Amino acid sequence: MKAQLPPASKRPALWEKIYWIADPLDYMDTYARQYEDIFTNYILGANNPWIFVSHPQGIQKVLTDDIFEAPGSVNKILAPLTGDNSIFILEGDRHKRERKLLMPSFHGERMRDYGELITDITHQIMEKLPLKQTFIARDIMQAISLDVILKVVFGVYEGERYNQLKPLLSGMLDIGKSPLTSSFLFFPILQQNLGSWSPWGYFLKQRQKIDELLYAEIRERRENPDESRTDMLNLMIAARDEEGNPMTDQELRDELLTFLFAGHETTATAMAWALYWIHHQPEVYEKLMSELNSLSRDADGMEIFRLPYLTAVCQETLRIYPVGMLTFARTNKESVDLMGYQLPPKTPVVGCIYLTHRREDLYPQADQFKPERFLERKFSAYEFLPFGGGSRLCLGMALAQYEMKLVLATILLNYELHSLEKQPVKAVRRGITLAPKGGIKMELLNKRSQPPKPRVLVGTV
Ligand code: HEM
Repeated sequence: MKAQLPPASKRPALWEKIYWIADPLDYMDTYARQYEDIFTNYILGANNPWIFVSHPQGIQKVLTDDIFEAPGSVNKILAPLTGDNSIFILEGDRHKRERKLLMPSFHGERMRDYGELITDITHQIMEKLPLKQTFIARDIMQAISLDVILKVVFGVYEGERYNQLKPLLSGMLDIGKSPLTSSFLFFPILQQNLGSWSPWGYFLKQRQKIDELLYAEIRERRENPDESRTDMLNLMIAARDEEGNPMTDQELRDELLTFLFAGHETTATAMAWALYWIHHQPEVYEKLMSELNSLSRDADGMEIFRLPYLTAVCQETLRIYPVGMLTFARTNKESVDLMGYQLPPKTPVVGCIYLTHRREDLYPQADQFKPERFLERKFSAYEFLPFGGGSRLCLGMALAQYEMKLVLATILLNYELHSLEKQPVKAVRRGITLAPKGGIKMELLNKRSQPPKPRVLVGTV
């Protein structure tokens, strides 16, 4: 059958690319209005068609049919941040091996070890906030999620190495803060080392300092193994593949940075959005507080994790502005029919998570925040997919959901916050994620001295 790509805009490729970088939501909304379930775009160049699909059937096919592969080469753009051994960039058998090695560390069951740590981190950071002064929710959530990654994943606790790593990692993560700084990733020509005063040269220098600290941590762990430690780095060091081989230092370093990039921005942004919606809609706040107040004093992390309304609030938060707008690209091994179009072999296709989540046929009044929709009906893995799916389903899904719920519950039960956002907050690009413009201005009105039921939500079970 003759190859036929889905419809595409006639605008020049460079214009498309700039439009996509500058205003991804408007870009997707505009083309979805014109072409509905599936369209072609040229954000990667005039000879490089990409397909965006948002119909659940199309998404299911792309994520589950063996004719589609999940190539890592399309994520090469992230290599300067994560290194070439990152699971993002691996493909085929090496990708499968890496997932097998890493998956046990991220299994839902493991989360119970981390509950107390997550609640303690939340308290430590919230306690530093002065009363009745404006703070940016995203910055505070980012401080929490950075500490969670450092302690839960890297297993680096307060001390000299922690104190050095923390600001270095924060600085490196800021590369995604604006379209301008993230242009490094999209335009490799900007990756010019003109000395440490030049932006790229500075980035390389910071990255080298981070590497030295991470390799020192890995070396020490190998020299003094301690099986009682529950952090993920310890589990990764102990993991063996089918041939009995461990991960190399380079692989461990690349995956640590991968988790940092994949997990820290995303979870922080999701928690900031959740705080926004909860405080933006009084009825959501009331319902959630009443559910949290019904917890017993000795409620543990898993009980909080299972709360139905809290779960629905988190799901709706990840639906309305999914932090990851797209799945990673998949490509077809052979020519394939997708939603009535015949794609030539090796066409990159992405699941457009944002557009799927905004479909009126699935989510009536899709632009409104209504957690109840998740209590009223079940959505399939191809209708609601904030963590992607198939062979690249987010590895950190359990950690992200657990962290979101524990942090929100701890904050709401112990601190009375107030949103200073008078107007609806817009979603804007932040690196490869979708974040609230301005980060959400809030203030701390009160610390609940006689908190309603569990004061410290102990996460151990
Ligand atoms: C709310 C928070 C998060 C969201 C919305 C999110 C979303 C996503 C999405 C959409 C993908 C692509 C999946 C696909 O292409 O099918 C992904 C992949 C991935 N995520 Fe997350 N993520 C979050 C948190 C985390 C955390 C906390 C970690 C680790 C600490 C993490 C690690 C990863 C990794 C390693 C992959 C790549 C998996 C692979 O290539 O096999 N993510 N995530």
